[in-house]
Amino acid sequence: MNQQEQLNSARTFMTTFHKNDYSGHDIAHINRVERLALYIAQREQPVDTFIINMASLLHDTVDSKLTNTEEATYKLRTFLSSIQINHNDSEAILHIINHMSYSHAKEHHTVLSKEGQIVRDADRLDALGAIGIARTFQFAGAYDEPMWIDEIDYQSLNNDTYSLANLSPSAIKHFYEKLFNLKELMHTETAYAIAKKRHAFMQQFVRQFFEEW
Ligand code: ADP
Ligand code: NI
Repeated sequence: MNQQEQLNSARTFMTTFHKNDYSGHDIAHINRVERLALYIAQREQPVDTFIINMASLLHDTVDSKLTNTEEATYKLRTFLSSIQINHNDSEAILHIINHMSYSHAKEHHTVLSKEGQIVRDADRLDALGAIGIARTFQFAGAYDEPMWIDEIDYQSLNNDTYSLANLSPSAIKHFYEKLFNLKELMHTETAYAIAKKRHAFMQQFVRQFFEEW
């Protein structure tokens, strides 16, 4: 199989996997991450664009929220070998997918390859901005969480000394526990420039949300 055929097979594998997902990991999310990652890759050469493309397409087929991680990794490794991805490329792709998540990074500090950093940046960019806001509320709905519930005012919430441990789960809490932190965690300059705009838009959204609340 040539690389184009391998990418097509990965796309089919991914499409089957995410077909019925409405928790924020739908096929459209994967397509956006792929496009963002390839856009960043173009501006951050030299990098292995094939690895970036494969890892983007497959990055959410191994997610502890969605699946049993070991079983999913085994299935993915078997799939990669079935489409004749060589051992080194296969391990590079799996390493990215198994180590790129926010929760994993917080606990382990595994250093990602340049390709992995780009896929992670792309995935994180899709958690920001208008799409990021929409996905957050979709996720909260899918997991039976409210938009917001606590009777804390905007000023107190935005005070640096405020402890988020006091908040019960909600979509708005997610902005403070994760989304507002992502901008400073971008690896590439290209992603950082996009993240700054999306971050500002989310801040404006949350301010307005509290005005209406
Ligand atoms: P990905 O693996 O694509 O980065 P996640 O599994 O972390 O995505 O989350 C999917 C989407 O749901 C993201 O937009 C994320 O910000 C949002 N999300 C994750 N956890 C929560 C939560 N506890 N409450 C609300 N939204 C969440
Ligand atoms: Ni993702």
